[in-house]
Amino acid sequence: MTRPLRLGVLISGRGSNLQALIDACALADFPAEIALVVSNVADVHGLTRAKAAGIPCAVVDHKDFCDRAAFEKEITAVLETAKIDLVCLAGFMRILTDAFVNHWQDRLINIHPSLLPAYKGLNTHARALEDGAKFSGCTVHFVRPDMDTGPIIIQAAVPTRNNDTPETLAMRVLACEHAIYPQAVRWIAEGKLRIINNRVHVDEPSTPHEALINPPA
Ligand code: GRF
Repeated sequence: MTRPLRLGVLISGRGSNLQALIDACALADFPAEIALVVSNVADVHGLTRAKAAGIPCAVVDHKDFCDRAAFEKEITAVLETAKIDLVCLAGFMRILTDAFVNHWQDRLINIHPSLLPAYKGLNTHARALEDGAKFSGCTVHFVRPDMDTGPIIIQAAVPTRNNDTPETLAMRVLACEHAIYPQAVRWIAEGKLRIINNRVHVDEPSTPHEALINPPA
């Protein structure tokens, strides 16, 4: 058997997607392991989750660096020291420079709480509800220099409800995030993804995201 893919997870807060990855990695057949969690904020709940799972953690506080480049240089250094194969952004609230993104090209993925390319940026749920969108959802994608762009790996669509608030919609979307992030990592670890002309092709007879979008009755 090939060795598990070594994940570095970057967080800034509560870490529920980190937890979903921790739980997935605990499954006997999951082809990846979390080798390092990096937070740019000390004392966040995500770090508590990582420590509880016995995962090495690093805090790299952006406020300790004179500019973004120096901050990111340190992040890359800790990730490379830990021999990370794939970097997973999981609620990491810093904008990344082109240099960082290009350095980790095709080895850097993100989870975003909307059906990209709709609703890039912040406050996605409030904006979707204001627009009267009938569906929202979430996306896992390879990261490219422009914010919230890059080849889409998997999405889950979540119907909105008339009485939704940003909070109730966020809760249902988050449950889907926790399902699709580990799935994306699994495909990468199993070597099932190819990027062709900005599209991600999944080398599998049937793609499980279809089941997520149209859950069986
Ligand atoms: C998630 O909604 C994720 O999609 C977005 O930031 C949030 C992080 O939540 N990028 P958590 O820290 O994983 O609970």
